[in-house]
Amino acid sequence: MQKALDAAWVHQVLTFPNPSVGAVVSNDQGDILGIGAHKKAGTPHAEVLALKAAYESLTNDTRITAIDDATALHTFLKEHHNQLFHNLTIHVTLEPCNHFGKTPPCASLIEALGLKRVVIGSFDESVSAKGGGAFLEKKGVNVLFGCLKEACDLLLTPFTCKEKNKPFVFFKLAVSSNGVTTGGIITSEDSRKMVHCLRDRCDLLVIGGNTVRTDRPILDARLCEGKAPDILILSKQNTFDRTIPLFGVPHRLVSISDSIDKINDYSMVMVEGGQGFLNALSSKIKWYLIFESPHEKEGNPIVLPVGLEKIFSQKIGEDTMSWYYKHV
Ligand SMILES: NC(=O)c1ccc[n+]([C@@H]2O[C@H](COP(=O)([O-])OP(=O)(O)OC[C@H]3O[C@@H](n4cnc5c(N)ncnc54)[C@H](OP(=O)(O)O)[C@@H]3O)[C@@H](O)[C@H]2O)c1
Repeated sequence: MQKALDAAWVHQVLTFPNPSVGAVVSNDQGDILGIGAHKKAGTPHAEVLALKAAYESLTNDTRITAIDDATALHTFLKEHHNQLFHNLTIHVTLEPCNHFGKTPPCASLIEALGLKRVVIGSFDESVSAKGGGAFLEKKGVNVLFGCLKEACDLLLTPFTCKEKNKPFVFFKLAVSSNGVTTGGIITSEDSRKMVHCLRDRCDLLVIGGNTVRTDRPILDARLCEGKAPDILILSKQNTFDRTIPLFGVPHRLVSISDSIDKINDYSMVMVEGGQGFLNALSSKIKWYLIFESPHEKEGNPIVLPVGLEKIFSQKIGEDTMSWYYKHV
């Protein structure tokens, strides 16, 4: 399950409005045959990609390799599984979906392939997709709930927030290896591209007045040809130079307010700022995404909020991207 979690975290937020989910197919000896993670809404779910990878490792049949479409993968696996999956287990961080959404139900695919055991992390509480575990149990599959549940529930937070009509809010920060966050570009093009992909999935970006005046940013998603989120400038002033590029981006709403309440009109919110912003908002924000460059920079190191627990880290080019959860 930890491997399923690690696979899923790579795509955290990028799957929104869908949940980030990971899955691992293994045999009785504990050999891992396939790992999959959901990458983007409308594309195959984690279970399907893990089953595809397992099929590839169990057969010499390369016809499946070029199939990317979710429905086509379901159909191919159902037609060609040849009892290959009968003694296998799938671990999945979230209960397999039980409905036709943009893709067919994973629960019925798992049942059709005859997997022996399904180990689930989090319950799916969503009205439309829940019930996959009970469906599989009724079909005689051995289903185990709650494996690494706390970690799987944490992974699921953006989706859980969406289901409760609450925004998922995270503070994104770029730091040098010695902790400096000021003085222009800090991380590599790879990290900045990742940030643009994340912005594309966000509907609001919150930024401090001082950063707007100092950096004169655009805050769009041009590096991944994505959509630019709306902007909330948190400020006690309303005298911003309207030639600052962020004001000129089409199809975007820019609000200026001394209150953060506007975030409640949105579902996925990224906050970007410096030390002052971190100090002002850290009591309200639980999630932090930090891109750390391997290079030093001149300046004062930032003081991070206390109580941050690192949940996941991965390399993005030469940088390291880490998700933190603030417990206090
Ligand atoms: N490395 C990174 O990821 C990153 C990201 C963003 C910015 N930065 C850098 O950080 C530096 C700026 O950092 P900073 O913390 O001084 O500025 P900031 O991020 O703009 O945050 C401070 C500003 O937020 C506004 N603010 C804070 N609390 C508020 C409240 N309760 N009500 C209303 N407005 C409030 C104020 O704007 P007003 O003064 O307009 O009232 C204040 O000047 C710049 O050098 C920038 O390049 C780094």
